[in-house]
Amino acid sequence: MKIAERIGQIKPSLTLAVDAKAKAMKKSGLDIVSFGVGEPDFDTPEHIKEAAIQALREGFTKYTPVSGIDELKEAVVFRFKEDLGLDYKANEVVVTCGGKHALYNIAQALWGPGDDVIVPAPYWVSYPPMILLAGANPIIVPTQEENGFKLTPEELKSAVTARTRAIILNSPSNPTGSVYSRKELEALGKVILEKDLTVVSDDIYDKILFDNQSFSNLAMLDSRFKERTIIVNGASKTYAMTGWRIGYLAGPAEIIKAIDMIQSHSTSNPTSIAQKASVAALMGPQDFVKQMVIEFDRRRVYIAERLKALPGVKTTLPQGAFYIFPAFSSYYGRKAGDRILKNSLDLADYLLEKALIAVVPGAAFGEESCVRFSYATSLMQIEKGMDRLEKVLREL
Ligand SMILES: Cc1ncc(COP(=O)(O)O)c(C=O)c1O
Repeated sequence: MKIAERIGQIKPSLTLAVDAKAKAMKKSGLDIVSFGVGEPDFDTPEHIKEAAIQALREGFTKYTPVSGIDELKEAVVFRFKEDLGLDYKANEVVVTCGGKHALYNIAQALWGPGDDVIVPAPYWVSYPPMILLAGANPIIVPTQEENGFKLTPEELKSAVTARTRAIILNSPSNPTGSVYSRKELEALGKVILEKDLTVVSDDIYDKILFDNQSFSNLAMLDSRFKERTIIVNGASKTYAMTGWRIGYLAGPAEIIKAIDMIQSHSTSNPTSIAQKASVAALMGPQDFVKQMVIEFDRRRVYIAERLKALPGVKTTLPQGAFYIFPAFSSYYGRKAGDRILKNSLDLADYLLEKALIAVVPGAAFGEESCVRFSYATSLMQIEKGMDRLEKVLREL
């Protein structure tokens, strides 16, 4: 069978490949410590599950409006106002089958052949393939570790050409945990206005912030930015609801209309009972989120200290999300048994085989010098994994 040409442009996700190998090893009886997962290790809160059960019992099991039920859109509008001070109307919101689906829809609605889209690296794995599948070109712009892996206005300016349509910003970042301050966004904003760029603001980790920081995105600066920004968020990370597949986006009415149309010919509505559960998540008590962040914070501080203490490993304390992205490049070129560790993939492979710990190679995120550790796992597991890592690195 002939597969469509555009599929040749994309590769399977490296993060899922590492995860599959780790799972196969686990299944064979090996005691793998996994730092690979991109989801909270907490269960979905009871009141959210109850809302889904009640919806099921009441027979809320039919098609809903394509872009989501009014009740959920109103809940999204409420959270934008309450948490970020942003005013949206329900017709400026689309509910999607996860944040990933929101981003995919945006790419389909906005970009096509001849369009360039700026993606600062390290980036979340799925941005470049989504841009390619829309027929557009991802323009990868490397950022510097000394700038906290955050894009500077100068870097942005020099990457923009006549074909540049948009930029994707992700703060807090997967994989680096970096967070853009309001001041940094203002500086980038000047270039964005000058070059007339659209902004996709992937805010999926906006509630997982440490050290009492407050969250900012470009739409919050003023109406000139709100008009050119599409915000992506969802229930997955904030409410430990990755499997429920509820995301949402908010932006100018014309893109909302386009995405509604795309959804009407592709997925139709997101799952009815997951939508009801998400209403409970957004409108119900938010203390679960606070408790989760307190726990992530304990793990963040611990894992950062352990990694910093390793010879040749460079890392900073992440400011948000639940990932840490240390540099291991001083180990590249070293001999490990009968092989040489050339890059992040070799190192990740070696750590999985010899230390039985699963990490994701930086190559998956466009940054070879690092590997990503997710600390969405218990402190006990983190301690065990770090002990193993320390031991194995000593042998290199
Ligand atoms: C940066 C980023 N954006 C979007 C998503 C999509 O999340 P979901 O589709 O589960 O809402 C993820 C999930 O890993 C992510 O890390």
